[in-house]
Parts: sequence; C-alpha cells; structure tokens
Amino acid sequence: MNILLTGGAGYIGSHTYCELIDKNHNVIILDNFSNSEKTVLKQLELIVKKPVEYIEGDILDFSLLKKTLSKYKVEAVIHFAGLKAVGESVNEPLRYYENNVAGTINLLKALDAAKVYKFVFSSSATVYGTPEYLPIDEEHPLNAINPYGRTKLQIETILKDFSCSNFDMKIAILRYFNPSGAHHSGLIGENPKGVPNNLVPYMMQVANHQLPFLKIYGDNYQTPDGSGIRDYIHVTDLALGHVKALHFLNSTQTPINIFNLGTGKGSSVLEVIQAFNKACGVSIPFKVEGKRDGDVAVCYAKNERAKKVLNWQPVFSLEDMIKSAWKFQQKNKIS
Ligand SMILES: NC(=O)c1ccc[n+]([C@@H]2O[C@H](COP(=O)([O-])OP(=O)(O)OC[C@H]3O[C@@H](n4cnc5c(N)ncnc54)[C@H](O)[C@@H]3O)[C@@H](O)[C@H]2O)c1
Repeated sequence: MNILLTGGAGYIGSHTYCELIDKNHNVIILDNFSNSEKTVLKQLELIVKKPVEYIEGDILDFSLLKKTLSKYKVEAVIHFAGLKAVGESVNEPLRYYENNVAGTINLLKALDAAKVYKFVFSSSATVYGTPEYLPIDEEHPLNAINPYGRTKLQIETILKDFSCSNFDMKIAILRYFNPSGAHHSGLIGENPKGVPNNLVPYMMQVANHQLPFLKIYGDNYQTPDGSGIRDYIHVTDLALGHVKALHFLNSTQTPINIFNLGTGKGSSVLEVIQAFNKACGVSIPFKVEGKRDGDVAVCYAKNERAKKVLNWQPVFSLEDMIKSAWKFQQKNKIS
C-alpha cells in the first residue's frame, strides 16, 4: 500500500515508519520538522537500509497535500502531525487549535478531493479526562480537560461527522496511553525539543546530567506508593498497533473504529524510577513537588478491543522500555 505519514519524522511516526517498511509498504513522510530533526531521516535509512522518501511541508498547506496525495498515489494516511504539550496548549491555545484542528480539516479536505479513503488518527487517552472508572474502556465518557486534549476530542468529532458524509471512508482512531522507549537499534527514540514533558525522556536527561533532578508531582495520591500511576506502552508495540489498524481498515465495513492502545497495566512514577535503577544501574535524584492541576492519580487502559479486533498484543515490558530509551540516549548523546 502507498501510505502517507504526516508527522512521520516525529517520535511515534518514525517508529511506525520502520514497521510499515518491514511489511513492504511504500511510505512517504510529510513533516514540517517543528518538533523533530532531519537527522531522524538518516537514522531511518540506517534501519530500513534504503532511502527515505520525505517532503518538508505543513499540513496547513492544502495545495502541497493535494499534490503529494496525487504524486505518490497515496491509498492511506496515518496522521501523527500535531502539537502535543499540554502546558504549552494552555498558554497558546490558538496555535494548538490551528495546527491540530484546522490542520486536520485541511488534510481531510485533501483526502476527500483525492479520494483517499483510509485514515488512521493519533488520538490520546487525554480525551477521557479524569477517569470515572478503571480500567478505561473506549465507552468511557469523553471529557478532555485542557486545550490539547480538546483538540483531539474535536478532531474525533469531526472524523465521526466526516465519515457520515462519505460512505467510503474508513477511519481508525487510536487512543494512545503513555508511549515510551525507543527502537531496539538505539538509532531513533524520543528526543523532544526543549525540556521533555514526558517522564521517561525527562528521567533520561537527569541520568545524563543534563537536568539536575526529576520532579515528581505529588506523592500522596491514593496509590500504593503515593505517586501517580500511568499505562506506559512501548513505542514499538504502539507502532505495530498502527500497522494492524491499517490492515484492519482494508477489511472492515465500519466507518469509525476506536481503539485504546495501552498495556492494560499501570506503573507508578516511583516504580519507573526503581525499574531504571535496576535495569541500567543508574539512580535518579528526584524532588517531590505539589500536584499539578488536572493530573489524575491512576490511569490505565482496557485494551481488550484492540487485542480481539486487531489481533494486537503489546509484548514489551517496562524494563524493555527503559533499557531501549537509555540505549538511545547514550548512543546519541542527546544534549
Ligand atoms: N507521545 C505521546 O505521549 C502521545 C500520546 C498521545 C497522543 N500522541 C499524539 O501522537 C502524535 C505523534 O506524537 P509524537 O509523540 O510522535 O510527537 P512528535 O512531536 O515527536 O511528532 C509529531 C511530528 O509532527 C510534526 N508536525 C507538527 N505539526 C505539523 C504540521 N503542521 N505539519 C507537518 N508536520 C507537523 C512535528 O515536526 C513532529 O515531527 C501527535 O498527534 C500526538 O498528539 C502522542
């Protein structure tokens, strides 16, 4: 299949690229490199052992999208491109709505014009907001509590409406829990610009002495050790979930297909720190700070639907995630 990856140079997109090439798909990346580096493309070439086709461009550029879909005879799009920092979205909501929501509308218009009918969207567990019960299944009420989450929720609504107007359209909405870890080669991994927002890359930078200590937000939650619990999923498991979802769209008649991609198991912040110490022999200095607004005590997925319908199964452990992230950090001496 000819597949376009928007945001394909980013963390999850680059790992998905590898898995798609492994399944012999033709893949083209479109990225504006606002949160990634072009060096990722060279690393991808080392992994897949062939040239990487890419376009430097923006999903807000309609004519570029139209040209790209037609030039590469694109049959399916996996849409990763988006801004993703919760705090930043609070300070710059218009930038987030423009990039994420208007960008997706633009992309869907281009798909419509080019008659591309398969679409996989990177959504997030943030659409659920504060959990009303655990584990969180796909029927859990939707109540995003920050602008970033609301962009994801609005896009999901747009996709549902769009699918009602276009009966050929087959859409998979993948709600990720906490993607972590890196490719087994150590050549690609999570390398955000600026100070990391996610626990694992933050921890890696502390271990590498680039940041002085890890901040733990809250140690008196109603959890066994008091720190927050999240569902960390290895980025390669997540990437494989995209491949399965895409293949599923070839056979389904259902227009909208929503799947949680998580392991179904939570780990606390303190457990992750201990696991890193055990797996890599590095201890992480940390300080406990106050709880952040909007943070929840516990969040993990019910992933039965993805397992059953997509025949997908996460296989990597927390230790695998941490070891691979550390390998990436050391191999690339990220500064
Ligand atoms: N990483 C996570 O924790 C997480 C969790 C849930 C959902 N998601 C979603 O998954 C997607 C991918 O996340 P990621 O972690 O790989 O992020 P990332 O920032 O590493 O990758 C996103 C890529 O999109 C590109 N991009 C952004 N805006 C663009 C635009 N207007 N035009 C073209 N390219 C653009 C960036 O340069 C980057 O390479 C995002 O939509 C994100 O919201 C991520």
